[in-house]
Amino acid sequence: MRHLIDITDLSVEELDELLDLASDIAENPKKYQESCKHKKLASLFFEPSTRTRLSFEAAMFDLGGNVLTVSDANSSSASKGESVADTAKTVSCYADIIAMRHPKEGAPFVASKNASIPVINAGDGGHNHPTQTLTDLLTIKREKGRLDNLTVGFCGDLKFGRTVHSLIDALSRYTNIKFVLISPEELKLPSYVKKDVLAANNLEYVQTADLEEVIPQLDILYMTRVQRERFFNEEDYLRLKDSYILTPEKLKKAKEDLAILHPLPRVNEISVAIDEDPRACYFKQVLNGKFVRMALILTLLKEAGTL
Ligand code: NCD
Repeated sequence: MRHLIDITDLSVEELDELLDLASDIAENPKKYQESCKHKKLASLFFEPSTRTRLSFEAAMFDLGGNVLTVSDANSSSASKGESVADTAKTVSCYADIIAMRHPKEGAPFVASKNASIPVINAGDGGHNHPTQTLTDLLTIKREKGRLDNLTVGFCGDLKFGRTVHSLIDALSRYTNIKFVLISPEELKLPSYVKKDVLAANNLEYVQTADLEEVIPQLDILYMTRVQRERFFNEEDYLRLKDSYILTPEKLKKAKEDLAILHPLPRVNEISVAIDEDPRACYFKQVLNGKFVRMALILTLLKEAGTL
């Protein structure tokens, strides 16, 4: 059974195939509108979400399928102490595929070991978020026409931002990507990502706290929110939350064809004045998220022999 727990579960060829399928879906949505007829997606969200859950559900509806949802941990048996393993076995009796978000790192992996249907990690704690990465890769590919020869700046909470960890993992497998890591000292990229992904692949990267100094070099600027829910104390969050606020003034030094991405939700790290700038891609990114999730559901259900 194929699952998607970590972005490296997919080879680069498989990633490229998925992105091509997502582009075809974006261009020819009618062709796919009955592809998952009578199939069910269970979306199990034990942590808040707007885009990820709704895009999974919209994806399944646009494929002609149906959706079963747990959108609040307190309304499920998890609140009675049921294990992730038992939940996965149970949901396998009702649905054809699971998308799971969980505050505990590794929970979707445990689910995948116990489910008899494909499991997709929709975000596990501060660890990984592979379907956001598919979204980000599709956006970069559609904006830039390529996934190689790019200077990519990651800005904000690189410590707790799971979307950052997964995207760095994915981009490390493409050619000639330069990584620029922009964060305050306390929110630097975890050393395990630096060691296992960047250093292990001999990849070039720079670390800085100064966005304005590096902005002129960037082809992609990936902004992130400071992840309040993963802080141990509110004081630290309050001190760090406004570390970076992207304004039209700061963008003056950036390339004309910079693409600004953000997984959203935005708090205040991108001024709304930038939304009308042609370089702002974060709402296009939202739409791309539905197309890649359609491609992923189709691919995993085909591999499982369900379609
Ligand atoms: C991200 C997440 O949940 O990690 N959101 C999303 O899925 N688009 C980013 C965030 O919450 O900051």
